[in-house]
Amino acid sequence: MLDAEARDAIIIALDMSREEALELCDKLSGKAVWVKVGMTLFYRYGPQMVDEMRARGFKVFLDLKLHDIPFQIRGAAYSASLGGADLLSIHGLGGAQMISEGRAGVEEAGKGTQLLAISVLTSMDQDALASIGVTSSVAEEVRRLAKLAVGAGAHGIVCSPQEASDMRQLLGPEALIVCPGIRPAGADVGDQARIATPAAAIAAGASKLVIGRPITKAEDPVSAFESIVDELVRA
Ligand code: C5P
Repeated sequence: MLDAEARDAIIIALDMSREEALELCDKLSGKAVWVKVGMTLFYRYGPQMVDEMRARGFKVFLDLKLHDIPFQIRGAAYSASLGGADLLSIHGLGGAQMISEGRAGVEEAGKGTQLLAISVLTSMDQDALASIGVTSSVAEEVRRLAKLAVGAGAHGIVCSPQEASDMRQLLGPEALIVCPGIRPAGADVGDQARIATPAAAIAAGASKLVIGRPITKAEDPVSAFESIVDELVRA
């Protein structure tokens, strides 16, 4: 993989305060390409947070996991797209019509925002699925929702690196497959369970990697980021 491709494949998860996020982004500006802004930052600081990232030259994955009636989702996707989201997450569980209205919303905005579907939250196991009336296995449900979402207009999905090769096979070469749960060899595993190294996740079929603490909590986040870039270039 080329150096520029490796940089473009890494999305840094900004799970921290606004001040810490801005400080980190100043350090990584011109080196990293993508950041992920989640609900905790967005619901407090709103589109201004996205503007501040874009002003520092970053592309933004706005991880808001949209899930509402189709009419509302069309408006939400339109607004998020106009607000500067390059990637936007949406729940597959909302169904085909909700996803296709989400797609219509981003098309209407005309900014090229791409939609990423969430299938089954990784916090849910078989018992949790059964408790909401889903009787198929977690794996079957993930496959069903991923296929439904991409069929309805999502550009891709978010999944664990363990599922990446299966999802690549199911969804084909064009789908965006974005994987969290990435740990460089030797890094602290933390609370992540189904993990892979950056190179292994890409080899399995991931298009992009969401990486948080291995970069953000490193003593030197810039060199942690650069060594992941090196790993991908060498692989
Ligand atoms: O710090 P770490 O690399 O574990 O961060 C991963 C990011 O990806 C976090 O923002 C986390 O919420 C998100 N995520 C995840 N596992 C999932 C889905 C999202 O870790 N299954």
